[in-house]
Amino acid sequence: MCGIIGVVGSSDTLDTLLEGLTRLEYRGYDSAGVALVRQGQTWRARTAEGTESVSALKEECKKAPRGFTSGIGHTRWATHGAPEAVNAHPHLDCSGHVAIIHNGIIENHAEIRAELEARGHLFSSRTDSEVLAHLVEEARGGGAELMEAVRVSLLTVRGAFAVAAMDATEPDVIVAARRISPLVVGTAPGVTYLASDIPAILDRATAFYAVNDDEIVRMGPEGFRAIDLEGAPVRLKQLTIDWDLETAEKGGFDDFMSKEIAEQPDAIRATLLDRRRKDGTITFDELRVSDDELRDVKRVVLVAAGTSHHAALVAKYAIERWARLGVDVDIASEYRYRDPIVEVGTLVIGVSQSGETIDTIQAAREARRRGARVVAISNIVDSSLARESDAVIYTRAGLEVSVASTKAFVAQVAALELLALRLAQLRQTLSPSDVDALFLGLSHVSAQVAQVLARGADVDDVAKQLLGARDFFFLGRHVGFPTALEGALKLKELSYLHAEGYPAGELKHGPLALIEPGVVVVAVATDPAMHEKLLSNLAEVKARGATVVAVATDDDEKIEAVADYVLRVPVTEPMFTPMIDIVPLQLFAYAMARGLGKNVDRPRNLAKTVTVE
Ligand code: AGP
Repeated sequence: MCGIIGVVGSSDTLDTLLEGLTRLEYRGYDSAGVALVRQGQTWRARTAEGTESVSALKEECKKAPRGFTSGIGHTRWATHGAPEAVNAHPHLDCSGHVAIIHNGIIENHAEIRAELEARGHLFSSRTDSEVLAHLVEEARGGGAELMEAVRVSLLTVRGAFAVAAMDATEPDVIVAARRISPLVVGTAPGVTYLASDIPAILDRATAFYAVNDDEIVRMGPEGFRAIDLEGAPVRLKQLTIDWDLETAEKGGFDDFMSKEIAEQPDAIRATLLDRRRKDGTITFDELRVSDDELRDVKRVVLVAAGTSHHAALVAKYAIERWARLGVDVDIASEYRYRDPIVEVGTLVIGVSQSGETIDTIQAAREARRRGARVVAISNIVDSSLARESDAVIYTRAGLEVSVASTKAFVAQVAALELLALRLAQLRQTLSPSDVDALFLGLSHVSAQVAQVLARGADVDDVAKQLLGARDFFFLGRHVGFPTALEGALKLKELSYLHAEGYPAGELKHGPLALIEPGVVVVAVATDPAMHEKLLSNLAEVKARGATVVAVATDDDEKIEAVADYVLRVPVTEPMFTPMIDIVPLQLFAYAMARGLGKNVDRPRNLAKTVTVE
């Protein structure tokens, strides 16, 4: 996820860009850059100083010539191409006149690049985004105005983009376009702005407009006009913004947690983007472990903490089921001290949203010291865990601010199940058609999550009824068990209520003694293969006076007999259910915490990243 900003017609162009980039740093900060453009001149500065990239850019921009009234800026979260200055945006075309910035992923960048290079274009970066500069250059060379040049260029592009282009031979114009990646336009008298989000331009623009997928906007000092990809005029919807800056950074949500819960469909979609080639091969560009090494893996060990541990538990079911590989899952802080056996062919996977959890880093170090190959699953590019591992697979959930992890969890499950499919491809334990069918199912999950998010009011109603409860059991079977653990953790850390996640089949081996009137049992009951047994577990607890809340599929006609409240979710492949079933549990924990007056973004005693042992 990157941040983009642009302005045309401004008397303080550079300040606008740099202040905007500062506000956009949360979207990524491994490198940054600006381009100022006027008749016949494009001036560019780029830095790659990690978290100091924008600060370093401000220093660099002190050398900028004065008098520019238009420019674009970018803060990067590397997906293709290392986080180095040469890969920082803006990218230029061969002439140096065209400058572009891009947030997203060009899925077919490799084939476009090969065609452009065959026609003599010289590339200076390893990024997917640079192809856009050369595509626009070609269209401009054919006599097209900048807006038409961008339009025809985007006709050949697959993937996600929020892109902005300028050309020194058509000054005081920015052309921007959007597909999946966010983009807003702002106006003030004599000035027009663009940005990835509203906070970046909130203190300068006075009117704001949403740009929808496949819409292209031509911006000048006098304002803007928009067309669709076919060239037909479109009207941008004006947004009513009465936010202060802090609210704006939450995208209009009351808090980061509700914003991040709402971002889960995009987090899953972004994590899956560009990870399946046309021939069906699952691919991770950044995974620096050869197919042969992966094929030779004899055992997998996952180490993680908290929510990431729950995602790792889901991965165990998927890797064992699809790749027929033995998997152990360890709490990172335990793994280190149990003198683990690491045999030849052991692949250790460290799962961490922050990539900075010291328990997980130390566990990965211990595994490497004992000869294991280590792959990191990290949501932050270049995190400590990513840097110390042999290879990394990035989730692309975007920055997660709220202490309670939500969108990172679903993105981790998506990435880990994708890895399980890759292992199954290499070991030929699934047929190509089965892998294709599962990948297709995985790519539908983001829409199913969006369906569940739309049912949030149902969850609020249940939470209101249960605000007085003090004891909760979360039950599940198979992958419903890690989902139950995650649901219990959300409730604990947000509402400070006692909640335990338990395998449903385990209740009768002791915990059933705790069940009495007033205890709430929350059951994840969406797996058909486990359904009958789960129904009898619920009958057992109901007979002892528990209040039962069930997460059940839309077509479940039996659940009402054993549940006081039912939270409905769409039917999906059982292995994908953790990404869907966790949503009502997140919303439940959120509603309970809000009802109890807790600070959902900053729960007591906790930190977003635990860097102490
Ligand atoms: C989850 O909501 C908590 N914030 C916590 O359990 C977290 O998952 C854990 O500290 C691991 O963090 P990581 O994913 O950044 O390693």
